[in-house]
Amino acid sequence: MKFENSLTQLTDQLELLEAEAALEIDAAKDSVSLEKIRVGLLGKKGRLSSVLGAMASLSNQERPIVGQRANLLKKHLQTLLSERLELLKAQAMTERLESETLDVTATPTGIPFGHRHPLITTTENIVDLFCGLGYSVAEGPEIETDEYNFTALNIPEDHPARDMQDTFYLGAERLLRTHTSPVQIRYLKENRPPVRIVAPGRVYRRDAVDATHSPVFHQVEVLAIDEGLDFSHLRGTVMAFLTAFFGDLPVRFRASYFPFTEPSAEVDVQWRGRWLEVMGCGMVDPAVLEGLGLDPERWSGFAAGLGVERFCMVRHGIDDIRRFYTSDLRFLEQF
Ligand code: DAH
Repeated sequence: MKFENSLTQLTDQLELLEAEAALEIDAAKDSVSLEKIRVGLLGKKGRLSSVLGAMASLSNQERPIVGQRANLLKKHLQTLLSERLELLKAQAMTERLESETLDVTATPTGIPFGHRHPLITTTENIVDLFCGLGYSVAEGPEIETDEYNFTALNIPEDHPARDMQDTFYLGAERLLRTHTSPVQIRYLKENRPPVRIVAPGRVYRRDAVDATHSPVFHQVEVLAIDEGLDFSHLRGTVMAFLTAFFGDLPVRFRASYFPFTEPSAEVDVQWRGRWLEVMGCGMVDPAVLEGLGLDPERWSGFAAGLGVERFCMVRHGIDDIRRFYTSDLRFLEQF
């Protein structure tokens, strides 16, 4: 008697194979392991083949019975395998979609917005107000010549501003401009009057840093040249501008001296109970006009130089000029 390969034993083996295969297939986690299972079950050296190999010992009547069952089992396993494969593919797709989903309706969090620097906005406000009065914008270089920064502005050789102590020189002839006034000269060399310009920009002085001084700061230069301009036009323009910028702060004109204007004045606004100087101004000195080949009998005009930092400090109640240059975000984010 051959026990191993009797009909009942083989059908039992097929049944066992079916039950185990179903469990294995069900447990497959991905298509790669499912393929290994398929080879182990239905491949040439797989478990089904070895059962079929053992059929040789059966009788002619028994063999077709096992053969038929084995065929059915094979079809059944193929169905289970392909169903499992579909399921795994669908799961993988869902997982991918979920992980790659972009929720366009989600509220963005933590995206930092940039802020414009208060000195930039203040400069723009000043320039805009003058543009509203019919002025246009001019610019000049920060590296200037001694000629434009001083001589053409009627600043004498022995003026203290020319001292190495006060000015950053870049060799004998060139320097970092100490004010925006040289733009007056550059503009009038290129353009004949009537002119009305504002020239914003950075200026440099050899000042030690403290609460009110910085070696780099910002000015806006104002220049108007025409026929028949006098001090009342200067005063009217300055008042119109200051009222537009500050509202109703008290303003006073104080007689002063600048080599390139005559008469000259400094303008103060009252702030926190004290007079604070915010600009210098005056009627353009005839010597400056003559130097440019303009007849002072025909042309006259006024000029002013505004300190942007001062305007910004008064407007925003800032007590220390150093806050503008230290890039402290807690300060800058307020604007
Ligand atoms: N340039 C002068 C300064 O930096 C300011 C100034 C005063 C400019 C009077 C002017 C002016 O145009 O008329 O101190």
